[in-house]
Amino acid sequence: MQYVTLNTGATMPMLGFGVFRVPDKRECEDAVYEAIACGYRLIDTAAAYTNEDAVGAAVRRAIADGICTREELFVTSKLWVTSMGDYDAAMAGIDDSLAKLDIGYLDLYLEHQALNDYFSAWRAMIDAQRAGKLRAIGVSNFYPNVLTNFCEIMEVTPAVNQVELHPYYTQEAALENMSRYGVVPEAWAPLGGGRYDPFGDEGFRSIAEVHGKTVGQVLLRWNVQRGVVVIPKSTHVERIRENFDIWDFELTADEMAQIAAHDKGYTGSRAKHFEPDFVRMCLGR
Ligand SMILES: NC(=O)c1ccc[n+]([C@@H]2O[C@H](COP(=O)([O-])OP(=O)(O)OC[C@H]3O[C@@H](n4cnc5c(N)ncnc54)[C@H](OP(=O)(O)O)[C@@H]3O)[C@@H](O)[C@H]2O)c1
Repeated sequence: MQYVTLNTGATMPMLGFGVFRVPDKRECEDAVYEAIACGYRLIDTAAAYTNEDAVGAAVRRAIADGICTREELFVTSKLWVTSMGDYDAAMAGIDDSLAKLDIGYLDLYLEHQALNDYFSAWRAMIDAQRAGKLRAIGVSNFYPNVLTNFCEIMEVTPAVNQVELHPYYTQEAALENMSRYGVVPEAWAPLGGGRYDPFGDEGFRSIAEVHGKTVGQVLLRWNVQRGVVVIPKSTHVERIRENFDIWDFELTADEMAQIAAHDKGYTGSRAKHFEPDFVRMCLGR
């Protein structure tokens, strides 16, 4: 495993396990338990995924079974937009995540979107961090202009910005801007999130073949090699194991460039952040 150091001084694993769109509690708990047993130490959930309780149950079960200690794990969750109306709502949202997870503290907590009153919510996150509830705090889906304004004016700089990052949406300029502020980039949908069919791409397949790896492993390795934390999701045991096995090969500079050449820019993005209907939907309107 490789680690990246956050602006808090803590280290974060560069490969973790995501649980978006795993609403079934038993399926989520089993997948997270399997991931921890396989070696994953970073788990990524969110209030909006409605599975924080299942993630917490898996973590407690893994610790009880002696697979790892709480300190070895790095658990992330996210504050949803409807809990970001003001300072008190945000604090209540943080406490709600902590209660559902029931694992003592969170290693990283993110503002899920730059929506609602994310400035007041950030002040609550800063206080929760000072109180020891959250070890590190960060943001998600903060585009370069929004992140820049935030970093320039807020007292505490986000440790992490979790955004969509894969070969079809490489966001090189956004990564450069994060680096300027010491914000660690984390990729959501590192395998394309079920879109784009990277697994059928001849170019990706031939690079994978050269290294005796799968296309999924190549995509994850590509992001890690450019300094991006990845959190692939799968509910299939064989894929959970496959996605963890990316540490025994290295992509050449030429292969890195060939992969990045798939970039389509924002039009290739899965996100709808610039669409008014998406904003209204997130706000619960
Ligand atoms: N902050 C945000 O706004 C945000 C947004 C989206 C996601 N996320 C986080 O990022 C995590 C990852 O993103 P994601 O779940 O959207 O997409 P992803 O990890 O890129 O892709 C997951 C999809 O790929 C399939 N898959 C997984 N491993 C595979 C493999 N080795 N070969 C072929 N297919 C494979 C999965 O299917 P199976 O499960 O059937 O294997 C699933 O359909 C999420 O789980 C969540 O934690 C955050």
